[in-house]
Amino acid sequence: MFDSGIGGLTVLAALQRRLAAESTVYLGDTARVPYGTKSAEVVTRYALNNARFLAARNIKLLVVACNTASAVALPALQRECGLPVVGVIEPGARRAADASRTGRVGVIGTEGTVRSGAYLRALEAARSGLEVRQRPCPLFVPLAEEGWGDSPIAAEVARIYLEDWAPGIDVLILGCTHYPLLIPAIRTVLGTGVVLVDSASAVADAVAAELAGRDLAAPAGAGAEHAVFVTDVPGRFCEVGERFLGRVLGDVEQIDLGPG
Ligand code: DGL
Repeated sequence: MFDSGIGGLTVLAALQRRLAAESTVYLGDTARVPYGTKSAEVVTRYALNNARFLAARNIKLLVVACNTASAVALPALQRECGLPVVGVIEPGARRAADASRTGRVGVIGTEGTVRSGAYLRALEAARSGLEVRQRPCPLFVPLAEEGWGDSPIAAEVARIYLEDWAPGIDVLILGCTHYPLLIPAIRTVLGTGVVLVDSASAVADAVAAELAGRDLAAPAGAGAEHAVFVTDVPGRFCEVGERFLGRVLGDVEQIDLGPG
């Protein structure tokens, strides 16, 4: 799986919990983060570049653990990878559609994800007639990368983004893999009355179904191995990642993806 940085570790953790026998290779494209402020063309180029690196490591399925890349690059990845590809948007949208009682759903994500309209389409496909509102929250990404998701400054940013925008919704999709790191700040504004949908566990279920459907699942008890790669120096990635996952990441190797 790949993400633009640290946020996809939320998906990695959910996958490892759900599919303990599966080996994983995680690539965090920390040299080129953020993706969310870049054009669809550039993000697609980065996504294909990442996928080529992972495909060369003999993977059987690719998880696009990044909302922005899922929103703009999924068709290109599916066309060019020759592998089953699972993105984060459809599983999260299905979960949100199921969770909403009032039919009013909010989506927060990067500028690229919001602009793409991918959640609007996925929610409409999951349950037609939902009332959906979207809001880009670009400052959440550097706060998460910095490990400041639970800080007063994050709570203030969340207040500015959400206080006047959120009333009326009963489900909020955290449409960016970095946003689960901001849950404490988001909760200070929304309280506990709004269901927060983090697509990580929904993606893990989708991967389990895809593997089972293709007869690709590792046998129970298979010795799983986990590798983590980043495209810039690993220091902060390890520090923040370990703090937030609550466990040691093991070896994190810096790689050069070359021009792409
Ligand atoms: N991983 C991106 C996403 O889920 C957020 C960070 C970025 O902008 O690269 O949309």
